[in-house]
Amino acid sequence: MRSCTLGIDVGTSSVKCVLIDEQGGVLAVQSESYAFLSPKPLWAETDPSVWWNALLKALKKLWARDAINPSALEAVGLTGQMHGLVLLDAQGKVLRPCMMWNDQRAFEECRLVEKTLGKANVLKSAGSALLPGFTAPKLAWVRTHEPEVYAATKHILLPKDYIRYCLGDFLGTDVSDASGTGLLDVGRRVWSQEMLDAFDVKSSLLPELAESPDVTSTVSAEASALTSLPQGLPIVAGAGDQAACGVGVGVVEPGTASISLGTSGVVFSYSDTYRVEPGGRLHAFCHAVPGKWHLMGVMLSAAGSYAWLSQLLEKDFKTMDALAATISPGAEGLFFLPYLAGERTPHNDPMAKGAFVGMTVRHQVAHLVRAVLEGVCFGLRDAIELMHALDVFPSRYVLSGGGAQSPLWSSILASVLRETLYPLAISEGAAYGAALLASVGAGVHATVAEASEAALSLKSDVDPQSSDSEHYRNLYDLYRSLYPDLKSFFQDLGKA
Ligand code: XUL
Repeated sequence: MRSCTLGIDVGTSSVKCVLIDEQGGVLAVQSESYAFLSPKPLWAETDPSVWWNALLKALKKLWARDAINPSALEAVGLTGQMHGLVLLDAQGKVLRPCMMWNDQRAFEECRLVEKTLGKANVLKSAGSALLPGFTAPKLAWVRTHEPEVYAATKHILLPKDYIRYCLGDFLGTDVSDASGTGLLDVGRRVWSQEMLDAFDVKSSLLPELAESPDVTSTVSAEASALTSLPQGLPIVAGAGDQAACGVGVGVVEPGTASISLGTSGVVFSYSDTYRVEPGGRLHAFCHAVPGKWHLMGVMLSAAGSYAWLSQLLEKDFKTMDALAATISPGAEGLFFLPYLAGERTPHNDPMAKGAFVGMTVRHQVAHLVRAVLEGVCFGLRDAIELMHALDVFPSRYVLSGGGAQSPLWSSILASVLRETLYPLAISEGAAYGAALLASVGAGVHATVAEASEAALSLKSDVDPQSSDSEHYRNLYDLYRSLYPDLKSFFQDLGKA
């Protein structure tokens, strides 16, 4: 067997392993699912042992396949859901279930720190407005509500870094994932004393920082016996799932960006310098490319909005696409606001709601479907407009995610954005990016950009239709006026 590297993604509902060869070709993929728990409203938790046990199962299945031999591995790279809080005591024992990225309980802690430190100072340091899902507010919540747990805490880790700890007894993380804690000085790529003081957190709790392709540690004898990974195998720092995805889809150089039409919609662009969106509506985080940054806009319900409608109408995506194709751009004046689960970008507003606006007797089911496809595209354009305002003008947009399977949706998006889109041919997500980072750590590739570009495989491009683009230009202005007009109504709805 040729030499290879392994990427491990500790996801929200599964662990995924991707094995690649030196050219970035995928040799094998193995996942193992689990559920996360929501014991109370706003809570989202998983016991870290669930990830570790799932990983052991996934690796066992991987090695059971023909022609897969762990001794051919040169390195392993880690990635995972960002923002999670894993707490360890002095003996390295997990103190409580991980509070995950989608756990919303710590909103009051965010408000307090933004009030004491000032929003502008938070932004300067953390690169983004504080969100309840970030690690630091959750740690502050534990201090208030579970003081005995906080008192016993000696180390905090992010989800993928708990797996690093299990594999090789090392307490470390990388700067891209650390950016999502709210405790990093993102511009300087070091822990921020200012944020630590604001949250009243001791720096001794924090893991050691590394750049993404750096080797942090090696697989221990004990972990080797459990996983069949060779003892001494280098473990590369890796990245948060979004930065790892960015590596996997070629967003590693100036002018590159990606759009993912998954349940959530993510616009992710490379940035040579640290630039912060003054309203905190984009995340400016460290990239997995050493010494570089990325800007990211997250729409909470992208393909999620389409899936919601598909369930309501009891129609599959193909049927819905065919219906939408019968309606002309603009859905005859019908607009859809895609804030079904609140919103992160461009309105950091958990109270925002979804809405159909402009309904008349002329509108049929097909118009609703078309309006949802278009509303999501307008929302993604919002994120790109925020990037333009920071002087980031990508010239290559790679398209991925389930929604990218729809030629109609891809074409509407190209026209709304007035950009050519390049759909990704193979998409194994963040685990693939982590395997590429491992190939850099192992010395197979000299740089992250080299590994990523060598592996990138795109389908034929999707061009904007100029007459549609012209039409959408006017409609986008109308779309943009809807949220400000409805904002206070959404707030009042929350109180009603
Ligand atoms: C990134 C984010 C998600 C989680 C879960 O900011 O919230 O990507 O990492 O996938």
